[in-house]
Amino acid sequence: MSNRGNDAGKERLESPGGTISSNFTERLTLKVNGEARQLEVDTRTTLLDALRENLHLTGTKKGCDHGQCGACTVIVDGRRINSCLTLAVMHQDAEVTTIEGLGTPDNLHPMQAAFVKHDGYQCGYCTPGQICSSVAVLQEIEAGIPSHVTLDLVSPPEMTADEIRERMSGNICRCGAYSNILAAIEDVAEGQKS
Ligand code: FES
Ligand code: FES
Repeated sequence: MSNRGNDAGKERLESPGGTISSNFTERLTLKVNGEARQLEVDTRTTLLDALRENLHLTGTKKGCDHGQCGACTVIVDGRRINSCLTLAVMHQDAEVTTIEGLGTPDNLHPMQAAFVKHDGYQCGYCTPGQICSSVAVLQEIEAGIPSHVTLDLVSPPEMTADEIRERMSGNICRCGAYSNILAAIEDVAEGQKS
């Protein structure tokens, strides 16, 4: 059983052994899109909620809040993660890149431009996660990280449609823009080769 106390960020917990007080907030510094941001969060706050509710970066979307749709994908210290599945306080001093940090309306990231060119979205709700994931996917292939469909584990993985589909399989699009998303990613991959 628990009762909220008067002190902000404190809860009084009633346990079988008596009543105890605990502080549930923590100061946190994140480097978000290249800028150091200080925030104080309840330690139970997910990274997704910290970005959206504390920092008002609403480009990152909440779809399922259970790690099943990929709408909340952001890049943390160079790796993509589902921000709904991780607590903000686990990322002290981490570098976080959200869709807002990849490009701007006047200066789109190549992946954003490719999604526009290939019509890689309809409602757009999954798109920030799709784009953050796509950017990280190309880096993963470039870094030689194998996937479930990589047959040859000795040579670097090839940039095939199967590799991209498999690696993007955690990003669900209810509008079904998958073939155009694949075309956009392949276009950027091709551009990076030349
Ligand atoms: Fe995080 Fe769906 S909102 S995976
Ligand atoms: Fe609508 Fe993907 S564009 S969910």
